[in-house]
Amino acid sequence: MRHFLSISDLSKAEIEQVLEIATNIEKNWQFCRNMNNKCIASFFAEPSTRTRFSFERAMHWLGGRIVTAADASASSSLTKGESLKDTFRTLGQYSDAIVMRHSDQNWPIIARQFSRVPVINAGSGSGEHPTQALLDLHTIKQKWSNVSGLKILICGDLKNGRTVHSLIELLNLYGLKIYLCPASDNANCDFNIPEKYLSEIPCKTVEICDANDLLPEMDVVYMTRIQKERFKGICGNIDFFKINKDNISKIKENAAILHPLPRNEEISEDIDDDPRADYHERQVRNGLYIRTALLDFMLYTSPMHRNPIRSCS
Ligand code: NCD
Repeated sequence: MRHFLSISDLSKAEIEQVLEIATNIEKNWQFCRNMNNKCIASFFAEPSTRTRFSFERAMHWLGGRIVTAADASASSSLTKGESLKDTFRTLGQYSDAIVMRHSDQNWPIIARQFSRVPVINAGSGSGEHPTQALLDLHTIKQKWSNVSGLKILICGDLKNGRTVHSLIELLNLYGLKIYLCPASDNANCDFNIPEKYLSEIPCKTVEICDANDLLPEMDVVYMTRIQKERFKGICGNIDFFKINKDNISKIKENAAILHPLPRNEEISEDIDDDPRADYHERQVRNGLYIRTALLDFMLYTSPMHRNPIRSCS
């Protein structure tokens, strides 16, 4: 049973395959396979705008079906004390794949053990968000065909932000030079980056005050918000690096400024129209192409399951 719960669930060759399908889909929707006999369960037990809507739109585009819950944390039997194990078993009876988001960072372990259909990780607590990493890489690769050696500055809540954990692992596979600028340590919140994500990955950590000096060297600046909902106590005064009218001029002319969104104060709204700001359009749109490609890849990987390419008349 193939799942996509973590970046390491796909080989580099498979990641390339998904990116290639996404490129072809963007050029020509007829590249999609017909999924009118397939159904996904879209189970989001944490808030989502882009991830959920793009997965569901992707499945519509593929001609497939979706079973979903408006707000799985409130409306599913999880509120009655049902376990994730039983939830996976149930959803597998009604769908060919499950797209799951939940605040427990360990749910992928349960999915791997108990799901009888492929599970795609659409966000696991502070742990991982591998489909976001794929679309971030795709966005970078569209700008530079050879990404090895590119310099990327990743800023924000690097401890609690799951997107950066998956992204660091993925970019390392592609040989980017990674610079990290974590939000400040604080009495109530510990912003250390979990060892797990960094133990074998060479990243250079910079102080917030030094990040401005690095900007002229960076090809990509990747911003993330403080994950306030993950703090048990009060957040207090957290300092974090911000991009605004004062420092944007330091960023290279052909650089890309990315953000998984939602954005808070880390990117000032008055730079949204800057040509380097790729977060509102290119990056968001790539979410749709990548998730469509991933569904195609996951549901038709086995040659046994291959359907003829459909005609999108
Ligand atoms: C992110 C998430 O949910 O992890 N958003 C997303 O899926 N595009 C980032 C965040 O919530 O900060």
